[in-house]
Amino acid sequence: MATGMSKKELYENYYKVEAARDSFFTQDSGFVDDSLRVPMEHLFAIFSSGAVRGDTLIQYGGAIYTSLLLPVYKNYENIFIIEFLDDNVEYVNKCLDKDAKADDWNLFTKDLCNVARDSDETEAILRRKNRRVIKAELSGDGPCAPKLSTQADCIITGLCLEFVCRNHDKYRACLKNMASLIKIGGCLVLYTVIGCTFYMIGTCKFPVICMDEDFLKQAVCDIGLRITEFKAIDRVNQSRFSSTDFSKVVLLIACKEKDV
Ligand SMILES: C[S@@+](CC[C@H](N)C(=O)[O-])C[C@H]1O[C@@H](n2cnc3c(N)ncnc32)[C@H](O)[C@@H]1O
Repeated sequence: MATGMSKKELYENYYKVEAARDSFFTQDSGFVDDSLRVPMEHLFAIFSSGAVRGDTLIQYGGAIYTSLLLPVYKNYENIFIIEFLDDNVEYVNKCLDKDAKADDWNLFTKDLCNVARDSDETEAILRRKNRRVIKAELSGDGPCAPKLSTQADCIITGLCLEFVCRNHDKYRACLKNMASLIKIGGCLVLYTVIGCTFYMIGTCKFPVICMDEDFLKQAVCDIGLRITEFKAIDRVNQSRFSSTDFSKVVLLIACKEKDV
């Protein structure tokens, strides 16, 4: 990261969504086994009972991680994806519209998420649901949150704020912004990494604010949420993939009990 460059400038100038996908989601990287398969299995187990459901689901920061929606979306009618980078907005729209040149989402779901079993059907249904991609920034210098006509029954976010926030205080402020978009009684599904300080796309290094489990739990509780699930999963293939240094992935689900 060039000295003096803000994270916003770093992402706007250097983050390339297709390069990110190709760096991490290859058969031999080990990244998927390290990071996604087990959390996805937990999500399927939790959401398949239908006990957690509602009208509106928002994914915050979902381009290459749109697959996080797969275990969850059936329980909601309206789906919004909030993205900040123009390239990511375009990428998600192309994937959802099944643009012939962007059917990589298929690879994603079939290969990475075979826990979805019927991945063709799953994708087709997700594409038919009411959904919209909204461009908004949650982590700007002034705390801000997109204006939506409704609050969400569920917000799902994965590997986003910890990448774009410049420090722990900013992370807490952005998480609070995000929680303000959730109805009382609704839930936050947070997928993140523990002990991560960077990731690489090619030769470009992206810093990550390094979190431990206690910080994460406290940050979530401080904004009026009660944690109902917390799964920390050790990384197994440490040596195979050196483009990032996380030690665990966490899947956290929390219920919003009050506005803070
Ligand atoms: C490294 S990607 C994380 C992967 C992402 N979750 C996905 O599914 O592709 C970075 C994410 O941060 C978002 N982002 C980058 N700069 C941002 C900013 N200043 N404010 C809010 N989000 C930002 C991007 O839109 C993107 O979703």
